[in-house]
Amino acid sequence: MRGIFITFEGPDGSGKSTQIKLLARHCEEVGIPVLLTREPGGTDISEDIRNLLLDPKNTDMSGVTEALLYAASRAQHVAEKIKPALEQGKIVLCDRFMDSSIAYQGYARGLGDEVRMINEFAVQGLAPDITFFLDLPPDYGRRRLEASRDPDRLELEDMSFHDKVYEAYMKLRDMYPQRYISVDATAGVEEIAEEIRRRFDEYVAGRA
Ligand code: TYD
Repeated sequence: MRGIFITFEGPDGSGKSTQIKLLARHCEEVGIPVLLTREPGGTDISEDIRNLLLDPKNTDMSGVTEALLYAASRAQHVAEKIKPALEQGKIVLCDRFMDSSIAYQGYARGLGDEVRMINEFAVQGLAPDITFFLDLPPDYGRRRLEASRDPDRLELEDMSFHDKVYEAYMKLRDMYPQRYISVDATAGVEEIAEEIRRRFDEYVAGRA
């Protein structure tokens, strides 16, 4: 049977990376084969592109270049890593995917629907089965970003950019209610992890 493709989405500072690791650990504990990966990145080529994208020195990068680089990094990641793992029946947990491009480049940067189109080309028909959305309202995100010690190029964007990212996620959540699972990211780490595990176990049991 094909594996399950699960993405984690949310604003910067929403705790996705911590939660995705905890879910990966849960899969290992119950003996489910899992691949934990992230975007931009996940393969050597994609990690090189990641460095270009996030380097605070690259202040001259145009929005279109940025969108194409995220999509290029994703195309390599899907072909080299995600699709083969799904074919082997693994659970793939991916920290950010196409919805991040729609929210950050399409909506917050204002590049529009072309961003979705170039990404559809990049992923060649692959879509997540479930998306855990870590819902961190902009006021909380602002405080966490201000406390960030080593912000990357995207985190250095002004607050109205991050407000738009959040608005975009609200729209995506409404557009894909069948795959979006919203989790309150203001709760404690263990409480959030428990909720994610519960929803994950339910989904896996429903598919079996
Ligand atoms: P990352 O280190 O993954 O940050 P976070 O822990 O907040 O997810 O950095 C990725 C940054 O790139 C983040 O600010 C979101 C941004 N991004 C996009 O703008 N478009 C995309 O398609 C992806 C995958 C990420």
